[in-house]
Amino acid sequence: MTEPTPTRHPNLAGIQRVAVLTSGGDAPGMNAAIRAVVRTAAFEGLEVMGVRRGFSGLHRGELKLIGPRDVANTIQRGGTILLTARSATWRTPEGRASGAQHLRDNGVGGLIVIGGDGSFHGAQLLEQEHGIPVIGIPGTIDNDLYGTDHTIGYFTAVETALDAVDKLRDTGASHERIFVIEVMGRHAGHIALDVAVAGGAEEVFIPEDDKPIGDVIQIVKDSVKKGKTGSIVIVAEGVPGGAQGVGDAIQAGTGLETRVSILGHIQRGGAPVSSDRILASRLGEAAVYALMDGVSGVMVGRHGSNIIHTPLHETWEKRKDVNRDLYRCAKKLSV
Ligand code: F6P
Repeated sequence: MTEPTPTRHPNLAGIQRVAVLTSGGDAPGMNAAIRAVVRTAAFEGLEVMGVRRGFSGLHRGELKLIGPRDVANTIQRGGTILLTARSATWRTPEGRASGAQHLRDNGVGGLIVIGGDGSFHGAQLLEQEHGIPVIGIPGTIDNDLYGTDHTIGYFTAVETALDAVDKLRDTGASHERIFVIEVMGRHAGHIALDVAVAGGAEEVFIPEDDKPIGDVIQIVKDSVKKGKTGSIVIVAEGVPGGAQGVGDAIQAGTGLETRVSILGHIQRGGAPVSSDRILASRLGEAAVYALMDGVSGVMVGRHGSNIIHTPLHETWEKRKDVNRDLYRCAKKLSV
């Protein structure tokens, strides 16, 4: 994580119009970030073009001016009003050249990309190949980006998953069953760990760790001996074999009735909780000021209560580890 680069990007002098897009998996709070970009820009006398369908729409020229009234009543809405996509065409030089041309044709001086590290990769290539200033805003439920304590959408996803875990606990305890619950997180266990602690789980599996299944079988057997009426095991989707693999092994190893529940995309929807709306509002504002200050090629993030800038490439080259204290806490509290 670094301070803003002191040198002004040469293409940002006298910037009058910026563009904003959402890319990759949607995350609750993306609309709040778009709204913050549009309204901060309006406050400063800049125009904003909204790009529909992420980089897919950009290379096809799907740009439209959006003003403060166009983002009214969106702060509380999940999903993204700009639509999102994962674009194969953007991975080609031709796709990026076409997107750059559309930005130039529309007089856009800088692009704000709300998404994850894959999206930031695409943004960096646009800057390197075509000199278009870019700023990233971290928007993904996975919270797996270096350079920010939290990503937009993460808090809401944890609440959604936790609500499901609480409900599954009711039915699991009534039937004295083991429930193995899979939460999202392709490469990261942030959601899984938070949900495990907040949901009082007996065990948690995350991609960052290689836990022997035998240990878990023993833990589940012990929990029955201790008189527990049901056990919850949380598995991040990136764990090899996923929840189904863990569930099958527990059923075979303990002989106890086991059910597997994969929460899936439900975790990406719904109204953003206040923490996501506030984070998105601050980062949307910060992204506009970064461009106005002549900064490019960074992601705006929040560390503590400070806004920080991190070079885009560090967001995928460096790793944000899970909170190991939470891991230890989860273990202790499941005695
Ligand atoms: O956005 C991140 C994420 O939700 C991951 O947790 C998950 O693995 C992936 O997106 C799912 O992507 P898709 O919506 O393309 O199936």
